[in-house]
Amino acid sequence: MSWQGKTVVITGASSGIGSALAKELAGRGARVGVLARRQDYLQKLVNDVRAAGGTIEEEPGDVTDRSGLRDAIDTLETKLGPIDVLIANAGVSFPSGADPLASEDVETMMRVNYLGVVYAFDAVLPGMLKRGAGQLVAISSLAAYKGLPGSAGYCASKAAVNTFCESLRIELGPRGVAVTAVCPGFIRTPMTAAQTNPMPFLMDADEAARRIANALLRRPAVYNFPWLMFRLMRITRWLPDRVIRRRVMPSTGR
Ligand SMILES: NC(=O)c1ccc[n+]([C@@H]2O[C@H](COP(=O)([O-])OP(=O)(O)OC[C@H]3O[C@@H](n4cnc5c(N)ncnc54)[C@H](OP(=O)(O)O)[C@@H]3O)[C@@H](O)[C@H]2O)c1
Repeated sequence: MSWQGKTVVITGASSGIGSALAKELAGRGARVGVLARRQDYLQKLVNDVRAAGGTIEEEPGDVTDRSGLRDAIDTLETKLGPIDVLIANAGVSFPSGADPLASEDVETMMRVNYLGVVYAFDAVLPGMLKRGAGQLVAISSLAAYKGLPGSAGYCASKAAVNTFCESLRIELGPRGVAVTAVCPGFIRTPMTAAQTNPMPFLMDADEAARRIANALLRRPAVYNFPWLMFRLMRITRWLPDRVIRRRVMPSTGR
């Protein structure tokens, strides 16, 4: 099992994990399509990957625009060939506590983090089902496992992603399409750059990309990492609220 010759499309690849994944997968011989709103960032990524001998195409796109996203993914497919793996990675994170309840930000996070995954999967799934092969991947988060104070909107959007992936996985497995939810802990990217709270087991984006690339070859249902942070999140699930309040607040945990 390898990435050699596979066609992979990544949403939200203009920075952070998506950009690092594009480089990692192109370096392993995949044919990579990248998509995001900031074209200048995508162009720089394309230049870097091509300079290193990789195959990559870019297309501007907003994951909250269902038909625009479908057109962008279709264009990448025309350039690169049938998509073997779709990685829905685009995401945003805003602090969202209870008072004030920033419902506009919550809505934006649901649109980008959750519906962005749904629309990206929808754009490629008919083709994968016709071929009886493919892999749908969502970059979710360990934040999916616990509603943390200060991060209600982000945690809820990632919990929705995990549950959505779980349903699809059960249904699509027998038809040759694997579904994987990737749940990272804290990764050093522009998203966490302004974070002032402690970020245990913080990992560089390149290392995260290397681990994700290795894990996806096994087509797991869920890939949680780093392992110690996953354990910590699991413990957090069973802690009394008052303990979390004391330890985590005011949290903007990703
Ligand atoms: N960093 C962490 O600690 C961490 C931990 C767990 C999970 N994650 C998840 O990992 C994913 C990548 O995050 P990151 O840390 O790499 O953050 P990042 O560097 O801020 O990257 C986010 C990416 O999403 C894209 N994006 C945002 N809104 C978009 C939209 N409407 N349409 C298309 N693309 C959009 C951005 O591109 P444009 O602005 O150019 O469109 C950018 O390429 C996210 O889903 C995030 O929730 C991150």
